[in-house]
Amino acid sequence: MALKATNPTTTDSWKKLQSHFESIKSKHLKDLFNSDAKRADELTIKWDDFYVDFSKNRITKETLDLLIGLASELDLKDAISKYFEGDIINATEGRAVSHTALRAPKNSKVFVDGVNVIPGVHEVKEKIENFTNLVVSGSHKGFTGKSITDVVNIGIGGSDLGPAMVVDSLQYYKNHLTTHFVSNVDGDHYNEIIKNLNPETTLFVIVSKTFTTQETLSNANSIRAWFLESQPQEAVSKHFVAVSTNIDSVKTFGIDEANIFPMKDWVGGRFSLWSAVGLSISLALGYDNYENLLEGAHKMDEHFRTEDFDTNIPVISALLTVWYNNFFNAESEAIIPYTQYLNQFATYLQQGIMESNGKSVDRDGNKVNYETGTLIWGEPGTNSQHAFFQLIHQGTKLIPADFIGFVESLYGNKNHHDKLMSNYFAQTEALMNGKTEAEVLAEFKEQSLSQGDINKLVPFKIFEGNKPTTSLLIKKLTPESLGKLIAMYEHKIFVQGVIWNIYSYDQFGVELGKQLAKSILKELNENETSSNHDDSTQNLVNFYKNNR
Ligand code: F6P
Repeated sequence: MALKATNPTTTDSWKKLQSHFESIKSKHLKDLFNSDAKRADELTIKWDDFYVDFSKNRITKETLDLLIGLASELDLKDAISKYFEGDIINATEGRAVSHTALRAPKNSKVFVDGVNVIPGVHEVKEKIENFTNLVVSGSHKGFTGKSITDVVNIGIGGSDLGPAMVVDSLQYYKNHLTTHFVSNVDGDHYNEIIKNLNPETTLFVIVSKTFTTQETLSNANSIRAWFLESQPQEAVSKHFVAVSTNIDSVKTFGIDEANIFPMKDWVGGRFSLWSAVGLSISLALGYDNYENLLEGAHKMDEHFRTEDFDTNIPVISALLTVWYNNFFNAESEAIIPYTQYLNQFATYLQQGIMESNGKSVDRDGNKVNYETGTLIWGEPGTNSQHAFFQLIHQGTKLIPADFIGFVESLYGNKNHHDKLMSNYFAQTEALMNGKTEAEVLAEFKEQSLSQGDINKLVPFKIFEGNKPTTSLLIKKLTPESLGKLIAMYEHKIFVQGVIWNIYSYDQFGVELGKQLAKSILKELNENETSSNHDDSTQNLVNFYKNNR
């Protein structure tokens, strides 16, 4: 059954939130703390190895109750059941959204179109496990009898970002294989990667759910041509494998059926790292680590599915986005991991969040009259402190930020880790408290400045504070905790889509540019001109053609 469709702004809860917002919008976080001694404890959720502190957000217990009331009025519980039970909730594409089934245990049952998909999921996992073990142990030999040293993942969007982010984030757990990712149709990208590779010891994993994506097929074709410059045709089966739903097209490309790792259309591209799309992860980290990643995600699935809303991490986190986006008119959210390992995390979440909830038509097909998906951006701390934090502290925009940190560092250098984490804590505190005029003046007292200079400088040194942050503190970065963290954001995306009454699992907006690029490519290749372009585009095309 499809998800219900209600314009959230027509609900009683929304109206209550609006009047509550008027009473809270100018309150300072400092005052909220001063007036409630239990605030920090009451607005913190401790679950497994996660400590999630929501208390530095511009909310009270009443705000949370009202937001939870909104979720209940919009039947979030029912939507969650439909999500986990394989209902066709991606109605515009006529599909279930069942990536959670990919990490469900063997004995569970998830029915999509009346068929229990779990046995099929575990069959593919076994294939991934066997192949991983053969490659990692060196038993899988290339055509000339040498073991594999390098793995190249060829894919784009969800067929690249997830595996690339996970492999990079978990590089501490990596084995001896060197992993590379080719995604951009920019020929310089694949050339830079293959230039140092030995075709005799390289395995290419072509990942494309549809096996129609221009970037991936162009890269796969060019790389195969480069491979065949030095290797015979029979070598292809030892060096090329593919992940796709489109088995026929993979075979037409020239890959043996035995080398195809199938996936299903009920797995969305941006949620597919848990499917065979994660083959490169398994190869890079070993199957056990890959399995732990999935297990972590499953634990978060269970938390999300069963926990009451007021102690449910993805639910509260999603409701906070709604609060800032729709009441405070905040347009963006920053993701700031205090670990260099999560360098690619915000980039990965950009696809997950913005491709999912960048929609302006509701589930009834009407244009929405409220804001939906937020802009997502971020970089690891402390680097980002020296880049864009100035704007968060003293700019004109309200930017709620998630701070993600780990209690233990992986190499155990306590000295550095304490410095790193002291910056995390200091930033959330500074963003909240800011610095008052009195504090600025007190600081000036210590310096020998004239009163005139002090008066001039004071306005620039004041920080208003009251900038909201959510602090996620996790015991240690492991495959399991990363699985939980990714799944947390996946469920947050789902909850937001339910509240905003939009379809989060299609991506028609990406298609228009693809279609136009195809017809312009024809013009570039065939010396054709088209009268359909606007003058600006036509001039650009002409300039390019005349100067290339
Ligand atoms: O960017 C649009 C998109 O369809 C994504 O949703 C998807 O992850 C990506 O293209 C790649 O698609 P495919 O795996 O079919 O090559």
